[in-house]
Amino acid sequence: MPDLLVPLYDLPGIQEQDGLWVGKPMPHQSPSVLSFIGDNFSNGWKAEASTAFGSVPPTLIVAVDRASGRLAGFCCWDCTAKGYLGPIGIYEGSRGRGVGKAVVLAALHSMREAGYGYAVIGDAGPVEFFQRICDARVIEGSEPGIYGNPIH
Ligand SMILES: CC(C)(COP(=O)(O)OP(=O)(O)OC[C@H]1O[C@@H](n2cnc3c(N)ncnc32)[C@H](O)[C@@H]1OP(=O)(O)O)[C@@H](O)C(=O)NCCC(=O)NCCS
Repeated sequence: MPDLLVPLYDLPGIQEQDGLWVGKPMPHQSPSVLSFIGDNFSNGWKAEASTAFGSVPPTLIVAVDRASGRLAGFCCWDCTAKGYLGPIGIYEGSRGRGVGKAVVLAALHSMREAGYGYAVIGDAGPVEFFQRICDARVIEGSEPGIYGNPIH
């Protein structure tokens, strides 16, 4: 899949959602956040997300269902490579309710506040999702991009 480029100087505003907490976890919460990612997505994404906890605050946004206290999704930046957004994942039972949009926009606003002008979404799976929520544009000729090394 291609990489996408997202302009950060004209982002849509963030709308709070009833019943959903969206924000950065604290360092001592890294075990539960990383277990959530490993259990629901992949060890590769867990490894990428673990680098988010090398910064204080971490370069990662989570969404938590306030009623149950359970993690509903996450979005990282500066983990795959500097200036890259992702990985992003929403718990299967929480999809289709705006959680993905909420964590991605919160992460993009944090990148803007950190001084970036653009974000790259590497090897973007659901291209239309990103085009819809943050005006992402396909970077022509970006496959395999930074993912071309031979380690498996
Ligand atoms: C892709 C993913 C993050 C979307 O999360 P979500 O919480 O279901 O998405 P939202 O409910 O916030 O959707 C926001 C908008 O995008 C649309 N959308 C959601 N998933 C989409 C998809 N796969 N393709 C196109 N549009 C999509 C929704 O219809 C909604 O549109 P609307 O605002 O016009 O109503 C989620 O399905 C997921 O975790 N998938 C597996 C992991 C993955 O692919 N991560 C991305 C790796 S680059």
